[in-house]
Amino acid sequence: MLRTHTCGELNEKDIGKEVTLCGWVASRRDHGKLIFIDLRDRYGLTQAVFIPKESAGSYKLAQDLRSEYVVKLSGQVNKRPQGTINPKLPTGTVEILVKDMEILNSSLTPPFEVTDGQDISEDTRLKYRYLDLRRKKVFDNFVLRHTLYKSIRGFLNARDFIECETPILTKSTPEGARDYLVPSRLNPGNFYALPQSPQLFKQILMVAGIERYYQIAKCFRDEDLRADRQPEFTQLDLEMSFVDEEDIFSLMERLIQTALKETKGIEIKIPFPRMPYAEAQSKYKSDKPDLRKELGTEMAFLWVVDFPLFKYNGEEKRWESEHHPFTAPCEAGIKDLEDDPGKIKSRSYDLVLNGNEIGSGSIRIHNQQLQEKIFNLIGINQEEARKRFGFLLEAFQYGAPPHAGIAIGLDRLLAILAQEASIREMIAFPKTSAGFCLLSGAPSEVDEKQLKELNLAVKKKEEGKK
Ligand code: AMO
Repeated sequence: MLRTHTCGELNEKDIGKEVTLCGWVASRRDHGKLIFIDLRDRYGLTQAVFIPKESAGSYKLAQDLRSEYVVKLSGQVNKRPQGTINPKLPTGTVEILVKDMEILNSSLTPPFEVTDGQDISEDTRLKYRYLDLRRKKVFDNFVLRHTLYKSIRGFLNARDFIECETPILTKSTPEGARDYLVPSRLNPGNFYALPQSPQLFKQILMVAGIERYYQIAKCFRDEDLRADRQPEFTQLDLEMSFVDEEDIFSLMERLIQTALKETKGIEIKIPFPRMPYAEAQSKYKSDKPDLRKELGTEMAFLWVVDFPLFKYNGEEKRWESEHHPFTAPCEAGIKDLEDDPGKIKSRSYDLVLNGNEIGSGSIRIHNQQLQEKIFNLIGINQEEARKRFGFLLEAFQYGAPPHAGIAIGLDRLLAILAQEASIREMIAFPKTSAGFCLLSGAPSEVDEKQLKELNLAVKKKEEGKK
């Protein structure tokens, strides 16, 4: 280790100790005979003082220090003189009298001051995200994210769940958005789709006998972006065999209760209230009502249930799935399938928090004939169904168990926990609303050579057209 302590841990108990710290220069104040710096690492700030006699050659070096230089310094922990104590800092009663310092790296002048409370445009923050992430408030969001993941994994691992990855280069999953396509060099003219969710594979894992699956899964959807939507985002994706709605509800309620307690110390009441879709629409004109006021709580969770199975697409004059086509109809609705599709309720459920849809799931169809019937009703004929989902339909013929699941949008849940208005604050390297990564410059043009290898050609833009 290059250091003996972090910049967040020294206090009066350490007075007299010889220590070595590493970090970034947060600020420098030159008082003529004394130079002060605040040294920052991810744990906090510690004040260091340079005095010509005691600090010897390091005093001269300190004159050249600028913000964001990376240094290693050694010296003695001293009590700060009366009147210079900073009660806002955990290290605010002490300072290091520097005896030796090494500059590990210099830095250009940063485009903004690396402290909280700065008014910096989002574009600048995202272009220099590595500097933005050095700011405590921004960094803390990723500690929260990590703590939430740890808590979720701990909870599910203790209950026999198996964490299993599913492919990223795959076939289209119908979750209602456009696909991101990846051309296959080895199969010219053919494309992989990035998964809109692991839906098909998690159901196949149930056929495979895994029984309890979860994954903290990246999902990709090409849709118009908003504060609560990113083209790639993360779900806690989960599936179970031999369960019904009550099992999913109680598991998720206990998971969320534990995770909120472990990450933020928030206590919530379970079970969550439930509301039929029709009541939500008639009372609140929304399928995700915000019940914070009706409940008198800061965290108003709600299950919305009894969704219609289909909605009518007037433009295309056809029925389409309200959720996705793998959702089971309620028992009583199966007989109405052909006569009155609009009347049928589904066995799906949405989890709403403070007016935001943070999760969605359902009891699935596990019967191949019923699945084909549903495809047929939404205008996917047998041939098309076999082309798109043949592997799932085939798997269903080999002893598919009854199964159900849910996916929680972790970016959305985290944004609410951190009281951030946009999920971009919870994603280390998010895209802008126009889909750009300002840090890397993606998406970008590719070489002619790459296009040729992929058997692709890009149409030239017509003059005057965007
Ligand atoms: P659904 O499409 O409802 O269900 O997605 C589940 C949850 O993911 C979050 N979410 C998003 N978050 C950020 N950006 C986006 N573009 C975005 N799109 C969705 C939401 C949403 O509730 N396979 C099913 C789940 C299942 O049936 O098990 C699915 O993906 O919080």
